Amino acid sequence: MTGIPVAETPDREFLPLELIKAAGKQRTDAGAWAYLNAAAGDGRAAKRSREAYLQTTLLPRVCRDVSVVDLTTRWLGKDMSSPFAIAPMASHELFDASGEQGTAEGAGNSDVPLILSMETSQPWSSIEVERKWCQISPQQDDGLVRSLIEAAEEAGAEAIILTLDTPVPGMRYEQRRALPEFPTHINRPMLPTSNVRWDAYTWAGLDWSAVEVIVDYANIPVLGKGVLHPDDALRCSDSGMSGVVVSNHGGRNFDALPAPLSQLPSIADAVGDQDLVLVDGGIRSGSDVLVALAHGAHGVLIGRPVLWGLSAAGPSGVAEVLSIFREELEQAMALCGVCEITDINRSLLVGD
Ligand SMILES: Cc1cc2nc3c(=O)[nH]c(=O)nc-3n(C[C@H](O)[C@H](O)[C@H](O)COP(=O)(O)O)c2cc1C
Repeated sequence: MTGIPVAETPDREFLPLELIKAAGKQRTDAGAWAYLNAAAGDGRAAKRSREAYLQTTLLPRVCRDVSVVDLTTRWLGKDMSSPFAIAPMASHELFDASGEQGTAEGAGNSDVPLILSMETSQPWSSIEVERKWCQISPQQDDGLVRSLIEAAEEAGAEAIILTLDTPVPGMRYEQRRALPEFPTHINRPMLPTSNVRWDAYTWAGLDWSAVEVIVDYANIPVLGKGVLHPDDALRCSDSGMSGVVVSNHGGRNFDALPAPLSQLPSIADAVGDQDLVLVDGGIRSGSDVLVALAHGAHGVLIGRPVLWGLSAAGPSGVAEVLSIFREELEQAMALCGVCEITDINRSLLVGD
């Protein structure tokens, strides 16, 4: 903890991501921009997620040859050039006409998995990207879920992200004010056309037996997203999943939730190295990625910053955001005296 009063931290407009965000705002419809940046209730869960990073300090080691820093790692048995993926986010066409394909082009040059939301504005199969994952929110309509799993596999997805944290609609006052109705000019081709409400695809009856049916049906690895309790992470594992995304949904559902970073160590301890542990929420720099890995994550999902990039400059904006994260992580690792992702652990945390 630095003891810096976070509320007094000014906007840092000289930071590369802040400049991209400012450019994105200029090019984006005001309602879509507010939807992108919205949080649940009074916004405190999103704020808390960010503050957890601002309040964490890392303790570097000196005089350790850092002339070669290597970001490569392995997720689900596959080589990765960096420990990032793009978080599932709905309706990219709201932010650039190129939509998810534009995000894919930005990601394609960088070998970062693109996690396609169930609410994409383009069909999963039409999106060409080197690494594709698909996100599904469990549905009462078993047939719809099965067809989505089949569509993900046919579209070449390497994994499915099963979002577990939204059994009922979130406290989306800010979103409702920004975009009260689902925009009629945006498609959701993976979903039935009849239901055009934003929050139509929740299921209050979701339980672990339903999750097990879904996991059994899939032929590719499934990860549970929105897990904040170590027992739920273990339950994901027991249900046949290959990992979890520790997440409070970007603070967009429920304002009383903790920062995902604060829950990471207990979840990482609970599941050990047997499963993939990813985290998202409030990650805004390479230093934040290093902090997340030091708390026990194998990697991170990057959310809003990717859509800031798409809003600012289409595919090249996404590529720029990802390259900022990569360069900053390399720099942060070198400044901490670590050269390999596997060398990052809690010994870097002040106080540990
Ligand atoms: C515009 C927007 C749309 C989102 N749509 C989805 C979605 O369809 N499914 C889902 O599981 N999460 C969704 N999320 C949550 C993200 O996957 C992720 O958990 C969150 O954005 C991470 O926080 P960050 O934006 O602070 O990085 C959405 C987030 C945003 C900003």
